[in-house]
Amino acid sequence: MCSIIAYKGYRDAAPLMVKALSRMEYRGYDSVGIATAHNSALIVKKGVGNVSYVNARLNLDSMQGNAGIGHTRWATHGAVNDNNAHPHVSCNGRIAVVHNGLVENHDELRFMLSKEGHVFKSETDSEVIAHLLESLPTTMDDMRHGYDSMDKAITDMLSMLNGSYSFVALTSNGMLLGARYHEPLIIGLGNPSRSKGGGDDDNNNDNNGDDDDDDYMLLVDECFIASDVLAFIEYTDKAIFLADGEVFVVRGITEACKPRLSIEIYNSRDGKAIVKEVTQIAWEFADVDKGRFAHYTLKEIHEQGHAISRAFFNADSKRLHLLVDALIDADRITITGSGSSYHAALMAKYLFSKICMLRCDAIVASEFTYNIDTYVGNGSPILFAVSQSGETADVLNAVRIARDNNFKKIASIVNSPLSTLARESDIFLSINAGPEVGVAATKSFTAQIALLYRISMEVARSKGINPPTLDIESSSINVEKMLEREAVISDLAESIKNANSIYIIAKGMHHVIALECALKLKELAYIHAEGIHAGELKHGPLALIDEKSIVIALNPMDDTYSDVITSVHEAKARGAYIIGVSDSKSSSSIYDFTLTIPRVDRLLYPLYEVIPLQLLAYHMALKRDCNPDYPRNIAKSVTVK
Ligand code: F6R
Repeated sequence: MCSIIAYKGYRDAAPLMVKALSRMEYRGYDSVGIATAHNSALIVKKGVGNVSYVNARLNLDSMQGNAGIGHTRWATHGAVNDNNAHPHVSCNGRIAVVHNGLVENHDELRFMLSKEGHVFKSETDSEVIAHLLESLPTTMDDMRHGYDSMDKAITDMLSMLNGSYSFVALTSNGMLLGARYHEPLIIGLGNPSRSKGGGDDDNNNDNNGDDDDDDYMLLVDECFIASDVLAFIEYTDKAIFLADGEVFVVRGITEACKPRLSIEIYNSRDGKAIVKEVTQIAWEFADVDKGRFAHYTLKEIHEQGHAISRAFFNADSKRLHLLVDALIDADRITITGSGSSYHAALMAKYLFSKICMLRCDAIVASEFTYNIDTYVGNGSPILFAVSQSGETADVLNAVRIARDNNFKKIASIVNSPLSTLARESDIFLSINAGPEVGVAATKSFTAQIALLYRISMEVARSKGINPPTLDIESSSINVEKMLEREAVISDLAESIKNANSIYIIAKGMHHVIALECALKLKELAYIHAEGIHAGELKHGPLALIDEKSIVIALNPMDDTYSDVITSVHEAKARGAYIIGVSDSKSSSSIYDFTLTIPRVDRLLYPLYEVIPLQLLAYHMALKRDCNPDYPRNIAKSVTVK
């Protein structure tokens, strides 16, 4: 989705923001734009393309000014063109706005504002925010501060916006103002302290006579406002996570009084000042370099050995036991997620039943609302959400629906413990995978599954069931063994790169990996691919199979083995090229190509099957000239419904 960065402080804002936008480019990248405030005027540059392209074309990083806002767009309303790129500027040229989300009533607001004489330059929903701010009865720069309540004009204005938003507005005088509702927004603080005595700003008319109440005001040397902590983690590890309905204002205060900026945060519903907790962010978030790898996706595929063991062994034991108790107490468990995280949720269904005899349903997050009646139990239902980012709108929506329907507990597993999902859950566990920058989920998927093994085993122990032995200690070695075959997989990708469709057949829990493999091939290599229950081949899809077809058979030596071989023969008889993923030597003569996986505990096969398939999708992307880190049309953090 769109990314926001804003900066105010003593550094040049533009180069810092260009770098931050590149770091967040995984979120969306149709177009890019920056506005800075310099000499009491706004400078705005924006255009279509990715950050490095637009920067090279427009020299974004040489724009002057110590305050600015920046944005990468992932189009929802309005075509991908220069006009629709953010920032959007008010008619008087004194307010620029960047926005993430969707203003649902923008047509109505546009109509109202146009009647008042505002002229719109873009087709976006976001532009209404710039014009609404311009039409406030007091100008933003003149707004009072140092008070215990926000200017009513701004709270009234925010109440007019329906939908979801996080936005930041920059005035020509360098003031920043913004708000968050159902889209993430985080304020990074450079050298923060609390004020006891109110601001010394030229505009300060503190006449409330109550200095002691002013300690809500944070003072900083510099501040960063962003959609993701990755944008500013190299400058500060202290941050404030805005909650829904919160609005902030950042202003300069006099040079004599260091630190130099004040940050005030208010509740937009009643305008009351809020004292927010400052969160210390783990420095491992800063580990976002590609290192020796050509792409983040490849780096993240290679990190899976460690990611699996960290997810399994480093689970917070207190939270884990709370989750285990909640799962055992629930009369109905529904697991949800989107995309790859939904696949992990499906895997949880298998693991919970096989390892600890817990029954649960798995549903795609965007479908939860339509099936809610099925999932409300007899008084103690639990919703268990799986998400890498913890910011996926469909997942958060499912959580809110579950709350409205009195679900007893919301539990989640996330990769970002500071995310909205983690905050909105009664219990959450981190998968500890470290930042995943490539748009396609790779290490987060295997880490989710590893943590699900751990949860299942702990539930089993708590229920007095003997859990199976699962040798997770060997995961790094096993992953390494498969990565050693990368050159062979690259050759395979070359030989099948012109395929129109790829069918992945599997049975039982391996079907989840078939779905995941199909998703990776679609999003990374833009190839139509389908994960099919092997037994279903003869019920229809076989009609598509001929000598041009590529069939991947997931065929480890477990109870699914011989049934999958039967389906392989059916496809082979129609001339398909068969790629077998197996640890069995005896079946290799049936396949045209074998991707060997290690012999492991039966329940662990899915974890290792997926790795050569991720590599295959990655190399297919390269052979087909697709950028695996930034697939077209999709964003990593899907924060719109
Ligand atoms: C696929 C992929 C997406 C995400 C989905 C959910 O490779 O990355 O399908 O899995 O958008 O995202 P999270 O897990 O952040 O909720």
